Amino acid sequence: MNVLRGIGTLATCRAEGGQGAIHAIHDAALAWDGGVVRWIGAADAMPEALKGAPSEDAGGRLVIPGLVDAHTHLAFGGWRAAEFERRIRGDSYLDIARDGGGIASTMRATRAATEDDLVERAAGFLADMLRLGVTAVECKSGYGLDLRTELTLLRAYRRLASAQPVRIIPTFLGAHTIPPEHRADRRRYLDLVIDEMIPAIRAEGLARCCDVFVEETAFSRDEGREVLLAGKAAGLAPKVHADQLTSSGGAELASEVGALSADHLECISERGIAAMAEAGVTAVSLPIATLYLGQRAMPARKLIEAGVPVAVATDFNPGSAPSYHLPLALTLACTLQRMTPSEALKGATSIAARAVGLEGECGSLEVGRSADFCVIDAPDVNTWLYHFRANACVRTVIAGETAWEAGR
Ligand code: NIG
Ligand code: FE
Repeated sequence: MNVLRGIGTLATCRAEGGQGAIHAIHDAALAWDGGVVRWIGAADAMPEALKGAPSEDAGGRLVIPGLVDAHTHLAFGGWRAAEFERRIRGDSYLDIARDGGGIASTMRATRAATEDDLVERAAGFLADMLRLGVTAVECKSGYGLDLRTELTLLRAYRRLASAQPVRIIPTFLGAHTIPPEHRADRRRYLDLVIDEMIPAIRAEGLARCCDVFVEETAFSRDEGREVLLAGKAAGLAPKVHADQLTSSGGAELASEVGALSADHLECISERGIAAMAEAGVTAVSLPIATLYLGQRAMPARKLIEAGVPVAVATDFNPGSAPSYHLPLALTLACTLQRMTPSEALKGATSIAARAVGLEGECGSLEVGRSADFCVIDAPDVNTWLYHFRANACVRTVIAGETAWEAGR
């Protein structure tokens, strides 16, 4: 049995209750064995049998469930620093996309990369994320946009899932944008996604979810529906990049198809909010992208008041969100979206697990759940997210094993 005592605050983040209910225990202890949490509670209530076990002291620090990054585009070739400067000078994300930049530019660099290149680079990103306390990452394809490269990206994720400790949730995003060679014939590309890519992914069991980008420069709501329903028929849970730059009915589509989540939502309409609440779709906020694109924040308060759970993720990608710093996203969720620190934390733990279909497996600390947690060098959640630092995490444990520890 492993016992951690001296925990100043233990935020269990059990799913029940509202967005801000993180079910914290003060002066707590945690015991785990065989990769699974065996006991959790106030230190003075610890059973006699555990009191005698060898233990470690958390020094009054904060312990939280391992963070779940519910939205990333982890594997890609190249970067796009030149576009960063163009946007600062005044060009919009949509202007750059119309000129063949944006996603199409990363597509070219990704097609030129080998599977080994993609695995090696993404493994480096995951190692950094692990140090920040991240223990599960949703990873999208979507920079290949042809059968060969979309499969290469998903195979890279499969290799990463067994080569390193962070849990990987692979998502197929063939409908990210229409690649240049199909611009004259959108139908041909949709048929490729539906009739060739989805069946090939199903045959190899390469993805758990299927995402579409519903936007002016990408896919219409009707096109998105076709792709998501084909994915659903192949066992892939739907997700939507919705209402990011314009209000295009993405949230309504997510609700209609029973999606796991609708993500971005900076431009969501009142109708979209009502539809998500009604259908039980989780919202995923991506405040790093909001910040980089200089947008108005997603209306988190309105969503929460309507009863929609709000996850917080990075959207790590080379264009709109070139950072995988999930704690930064949490602080931005507080300052830009007016979420409290506890609401933001629940959004990156149990609500994030729900957004990727892993509720019941990770995202909360409960007896019987996997011992995925991290130790944060702060006494409580408010202090942690208020005093932003390069890294406040000092130890990350996945399935009971210390996967990273500061100074070791
Ligand atoms: O989530 N919105 C679409 N996709 C990404 C951006 C991708 C890119 O710019 O390369 C996003 O923000
Ligand atoms: Fe995204």
